[in-house]
Amino acid sequence: MNFAGKNAVITGGSSGIGKATARLLARYGANVFIIARGQKRLDAALDEIAAERNRADQVCRAFSADVAQYEQIKAVGDAIVESGYPPDILINSAGIARCNYFDELTLDDFRQTMDINFFGTVNTIKAVLPYMKERRSGHIVNISSMAGFLGVFGYTAYGASKFAVRGFSDVLRCELKPYGIHVSVVFPPDTDTPQLWAENETKPLETKMISGTVKPMSAEAVALAILRGVRRRRHLIFPGWESGFYYHLHNVLGPVFTWYFDAAVARARRQRGES
Ligand SMILES: NC(=O)c1ccc[n+]([C@@H]2O[C@H](COP(=O)([O-])OP(=O)(O)OC[C@H]3O[C@@H](n4cnc5c(N)ncnc54)[C@H](OP(=O)(O)O)[C@@H]3O)[C@@H](O)[C@H]2O)c1
Repeated sequence: MNFAGKNAVITGGSSGIGKATARLLARYGANVFIIARGQKRLDAALDEIAAERNRADQVCRAFSADVAQYEQIKAVGDAIVESGYPPDILINSAGIARCNYFDELTLDDFRQTMDINFFGTVNTIKAVLPYMKERRSGHIVNISSMAGFLGVFGYTAYGASKFAVRGFSDVLRCELKPYGIHVSVVFPPDTDTPQLWAENETKPLETKMISGTVKPMSAEAVALAILRGVRRRRHLIFPGWESGFYYHLHNVLGPVFTWYFDAAVARARRQRGES
């Protein structure tokens, strides 16, 4: 794949799917700008990303900002443009996941999840879109999740934020098409990243039974699927076979999933000796 000369901004670029996508973009010739909060992980990721460059004049930079804070993200967007690299590609990968029973999740968990996963995506697009519209070109990629089209046990907060990203992306695609700007939404399955390791700490038994023994995808495989989707200008991007399979199946066979999920919950309750 060739992304030579393209300017790519990646939120959440210091870890997991965002970092893997940033590394690939650098390998394929893009100038890469990553955004996340923690400086230490940003610095380490930047070294890895810069090591992938295939030309000495490729630019890679890291910015510390919170996507939930519009002013911070706007300042970073402006700085990238003013330094001469108006974004061609924006990847919204910054996100958090709190997986637990509804009763165990606090209102703050809900607010923070929406603030980062949904409003973080909206904020970054608000900051960058005027520059894309000016040039009448660009590609925006929003990372949703399989929990963004399936109501999976334990994901009341996370699922709601990812359904929101999906709905938002579907509408935005339609609004931006006349400006030559493409919008993709990605539905990764479980992916082997620090986010998955963290959510596994609190994941209810029911959620584990529903996801079964499926092996998580690697962040690198998800990143490759994302860039292939961008190259083909796909609106819906499904890394791995199961994500697309379940998406389309769910559209025709929604009640089958309801039955399957209810059966998993009943099994979990029996296993715990609950009536
Ligand atoms: N892993 C999975 O199984 C999976 C499956 C489906 C979808 N996804 C989605 O894929 C995306 C990437 O997830 P991942 O698994 O790669 O997670 P990850 O490894 O935990 O990386 C998350 C990244 O987002 C950044 N971030 C978090 N909150 C932020 C904020 N408020 N402002 C700026 N940056 C922030 C983190 O850095 P700082 O914390 O330093 O800010 C980090 O760089 C997320 O949207 C996630 O929901 C993941």
